[in-house]
Amino acid sequence: MTHASYPALRMRRARATAWSRAMVAESRLHPSDLIWPLFVCEGDEAQPIATMPGVSRWPVERIAERAVEARDAGIPCVGLFPNTPPDLRCDRGEEALNPDNLICRAIGAIKDALGDEIGILTDVALDPYTSHGQDGLLDADGTVRNDDTVSMLAEQALNQAAAGADIIAPSDMMDGRVGAIRHALEDDGYSNVQIMAYAAKYASAFYGPFRDAIGSRGLLKGDKRGYQMDPANAEEALREVALDLAEGADSVMVKPGLAYLDVVAKVKARFEVPVFAYQVSGEYAMIEAAAAAGAGDRDALILETLLAFKRAGASGVLTYHALDAARLIGS
Ligand code: PBG
Repeated sequence: MTHASYPALRMRRARATAWSRAMVAESRLHPSDLIWPLFVCEGDEAQPIATMPGVSRWPVERIAERAVEARDAGIPCVGLFPNTPPDLRCDRGEEALNPDNLICRAIGAIKDALGDEIGILTDVALDPYTSHGQDGLLDADGTVRNDDTVSMLAEQALNQAAAGADIIAPSDMMDGRVGAIRHALEDDGYSNVQIMAYAAKYASAFYGPFRDAIGSRGLLKGDKRGYQMDPANAEEALREVALDLAEGADSVMVKPGLAYLDVVAKVKARFEVPVFAYQVSGEYAMIEAAAAAGAGDRDALILETLLAFKRAGASGVLTYHALDAARLIGS
């Protein structure tokens, strides 16, 4: 392609006015691009999370109010994460299978209030339920056992689907779990429940505040590098995505977000499927800390980082800033 060159070509012409910038914008952020992760707790008080200023855990009886706010702001889906009481955690994470656990009650509360007016995504992994904070069942030497864990995860997914979850999102990084969950859902009559696979989930330093939020940080010994991906790898992410799609995932996720935008772009270029990115708790905390320190304008930081996911090719973003962002875009 031949282009004119300066001075016949002046790139600034298209940038000179707001209307012109809007006309040539290549990507746009819309409230329907956002999924809002919410934390659920027992009791009747909201519990602020110190490492995530502005984010609280919500009791079941107040979770539907959050979903209504999300719906009103044009957000299509919320994600639910439980802070399981310590006495209900055990080495096998059995509370994950309890049909009356926090997550199942929260799903029920939102469905009662809103029915199909908003989607509900639930995380499948055992870490909110285990006394050791790992995502699966442990061997005597502390290694997470893959195949036994996968059986538990399929049961956990069925428990959430029975409660009304619309999207099952396995975040555990066990091998073969997407296929096992898809079969279990099909066998039990939940063939319309979607699977959004955390296909490329990295062993990241950005998950710290989330572990505070679900109460697993103090319990976790060691790390999750035996199952979550090495931050050095991108081609491996493509293999993970291919496997999860072959096993029946409807959409895939890359996580964390900003530090892995190259992976989002590669997945989008290779596969014709919806790709989501998770702007995780540590990213949220970084933006809040930067804004609080006067290092940048909070609203602008939120919108610029979220737009970057769209530019990279993401269909949508899970972000703790979802409600604020949707309201900013809408206003
Ligand atoms: C649980 C899970 C984690 C996150 C989502 N699901 C943490 C982890 O793997 O330790 C992190 C989300 C965030 O940091 O916001 N398997």
